[in-house]
Amino acid sequence: MFTKRQEAELITSIQGRGEIPLKFAYLGEGAVKWHTIAKKRSSGGINYAETQLLSRKIRDFISSFTNAKKINLIDIGCGDGQPVLPILKELSSQDISFRYVPIDISKEMLDLAEKTILSKHKGCEVKKYLIDFELGNFSDITYDLKSDGSANLLLFLGSTLGNFSDRNRILTNIRDSMSSDDFLIVGVEMTNFSKVNKLLPHYTGKEALDFVFTVPVNIGIKVRTVEYEAVWNEKDTQIEIWIQLKNDQKIHIGSDSFTLERDERLLLGRSVKFNEWTFTKLMSDVGFRTELLTTSKDREYVLSMVQPTRYAV
Ligand SMILES: C[S@@+](CC[C@H](N)C(=O)[O-])C[C@H]1O[C@@H](n2cnc3c(N)ncnc32)[C@H](O)[C@@H]1O
Repeated sequence: MFTKRQEAELITSIQGRGEIPLKFAYLGEGAVKWHTIAKKRSSGGINYAETQLLSRKIRDFISSFTNAKKINLIDIGCGDGQPVLPILKELSSQDISFRYVPIDISKEMLDLAEKTILSKHKGCEVKKYLIDFELGNFSDITYDLKSDGSANLLLFLGSTLGNFSDRNRILTNIRDSMSSDDFLIVGVEMTNFSKVNKLLPHYTGKEALDFVFTVPVNIGIKVRTVEYEAVWNEKDTQIEIWIQLKNDQKIHIGSDSFTLERDERLLLGRSVKFNEWTFTKLMSDVGFRTELLTTSKDREYVLSMVQPTRYAV
């Protein structure tokens, strides 16, 4: 399931900071579990607000590409590919040709995304890239794609940005993969911080648990031997998913094994929530200029189209 490098990263993060990085949950059977959650996106489920907003605003976003012969839709952390469908629909209706370029840590997610896109856009060119975007920039990919004169539109949707402890690092990797005529659309969930308790039940449903337990179960942790909790961390404005061990547990990762002791706590996931100010400040600190920014009526979701600031200081 894991590469040697991923095994090393997983062991180090468990032993070093008591965290199982959420990105590993999408590997193998985790991809199908994620799809079970994500497929409700178009009917009121997770990130429904993003789909609605994107569908309403996509024309404005695309209008920046009036002279492009062809657009590379570089879907960073593609999931099952559904989030880009409103964009492809609009490009097709405007007769703008495109190439779909999913980038993901999970081969299974890449395959699912390809299937989703081809089912709606038969014959569409799909170029998949299996990479971990946390490890560095991917300018080799973005540069090569433009060799035929096409334009790059990068997408970082589904509030994926909120899942990482070091959001600056992720955005810097993306920025360093862009030239000054490329665009990036980022979508993140916002929240009214006084109503945050309403969000917690989303993280305790059966499907959510099934998904976040993918890696713990794979490395030997038994679900019934842990306490599970989803809590709001006020200081870091994030939902956190924790497990606490009820007894000593033997962990197996690759050829390595070690014991975690009773009462140890492990962080399984985080979802940072933004407001307009924290989000725009983050983007500008990393060196992006905002071309367009739009929020849903209830201020639940923000979509922003940005470009690297060429002369950032
Ligand atoms: C929260 S899901 C969002 C999926 C999709 N964009 C959506 O909106 O439904 C995060 C996606 O990013 C991928 N991912 C997470 N961390 C990654 C990393 N470090 N490198 C590459 N892909 C990653 C996951 O495999 C998953 O497909």
